[in-house]
Amino acid sequence: MIRVRGLEVAFGEKTIMKGLDLDVYRGEILGFVGASGQGKSVLTRTILGLVRKRAGTIEVFGEDLDDLSAGSRRAVERRWGVLFQQGALFSSLTVKQNVQVPMREHLKLSERLLDELARLKIEMVGLKPDAADKFPSELSGGMIKRASLARALALDPEILFLDEPTSGLDPIGAGDFDDLISTLQRTLGLTVFMVTHDLDSIHTVCDRVAALGEGHIIAAGSIDTMMASDHPWLRMYFNGKRARAVLQTGA
Ligand SMILES: Nc1ncnc2c1ncn2[C@@H]1O[C@H](COP(=O)(O)OP(=O)(O)OP(=O)(O)O)[C@@H](O)[C@H]1O
Ligand SMILES: [Mg+2]
Repeated sequence: MIRVRGLEVAFGEKTIMKGLDLDVYRGEILGFVGASGQGKSVLTRTILGLVRKRAGTIEVFGEDLDDLSAGSRRAVERRWGVLFQQGALFSSLTVKQNVQVPMREHLKLSERLLDELARLKIEMVGLKPDAADKFPSELSGGMIKRASLARALALDPEILFLDEPTSGLDPIGAGDFDDLISTLQRTLGLTVFMVTHDLDSIHTVCDRVAALGEGHIIAAGSIDTMMASDHPWLRMYFNGKRARAVLQTGA
């Protein structure tokens, strides 16, 4: 579903990634890990076309994103949904209006249908119906994540990009959110690209993991493969004190 080759991204003099190759397969949940500041969000934003690349190719749905006309580009954008790291809901819009933003941008539907669709998405992510008319400032962190997910699902995407969906949630809330993602992925047949630091999420929902370090993918594969890696950062990450605590609690 996603094929990245030889990707280079830099801000001024500072090279963030170089020679990066990454594949995301249809129907999988790929966990994307790496130390803070390595460029996980930048890579996500580059795939989405929000950050300009210096070199390399990015193919999504088998199409080279550089080769697309504006119309084809919009068609591709309709087929993916994004939950940004900062939630990024419009603070002046209610949850319902936020969910309807992508619908209004891409679809021509009656108000009645827009309301009905938004209601459905809000229910799908486990929010109560009365959340629809609340503003982001009236929501808890967990509710904001769910509302953002409802917006990401607005156009029935085939690929879902999630940037740290469980960060800032308590462990139970994070577990519930993982279950939700897993259920949606299975029932809707989604492909999920999930940036995460959350070892619980990696063990419970991810089919495969890719790790970013030193500007490229240092390893990618099943969780067992990653845990067996002798790369120093991966060893620390999967076998450090916090990782052992997760394994002992039976995740
Ligand atoms: N628009 C920008 N202009 C200049 N530098 C940027 C920009 N966006 C990101 N960076 C830099 O790129 C690097 C990677 O940032 P990024 O946000 O991708 O890290 P991350 O891996 O997502 O970290 P975290 O796990 O903390 O979210 C950082 O050094 C950051 O300062
Ligand atoms: Mg980030």
